[in-house]
Amino acid sequence: MRLKKLILIGFMGSGKSTIAPLVAAKLGFTVVDADHEVVKRSGFASIPEIITTVNEEHFRDLEAQVAASLRDASSIVVASGGGVIGRPDNMDNLRHGGGRIVFLNTTFAEIRRRVPDTSSRPLFCDPVAAEQLYYKRLPIYRRYADLSVATDGKTHDEVSSEIVSWLEALP
Ligand code: S3P
Repeated sequence: MRLKKLILIGFMGSGKSTIAPLVAAKLGFTVVDADHEVVKRSGFASIPEIITTVNEEHFRDLEAQVAASLRDASSIVVASGGGVIGRPDNMDNLRHGGGRIVFLNTTFAEIRRRVPDTSSRPLFCDPVAAEQLYYKRLPIYRRYADLSVATDGKTHDEVSSEIVSWLEALP
């Protein structure tokens, strides 16, 4: 297995930020949490602050800068933001040089259970709009995924082991 980068994609609440360190520890890779990197670059204290003080477009531009900065990175596991798939250039940058993309596939019902605090996720404030966004994005996550892992009912350890087993079986 010659892996350079692993990118976790999936909707808010699918577990990207939780699973990334578990997989990184097994691979001896470093975790990059894309949302944290965006906040660092922004000069604001949080994503809600970026979006309410400026706008979502500005947040997306910063997110694109972070993806571009990871183009030539190696030995990293990226916990991406749920909307990173909205710009094809992001995916091209993240995948560049042998990045593998894993989709954490969580049902919307499970996500609703896991994301009770909507204030930290501006795009989840309206559950009806969030569900529409979920179904709009689902085919896009699937299209980009080299591996899709169904996460409902699994422990974090089970999900991370499934990813690592798949990586180990790669030629
Ligand atoms: C977003 C998901 C969030 C964060 C921002 C926008 C989205 O990240 O990037 O609030 O568009 O789905 P998580 O998926 O880590 O919650």
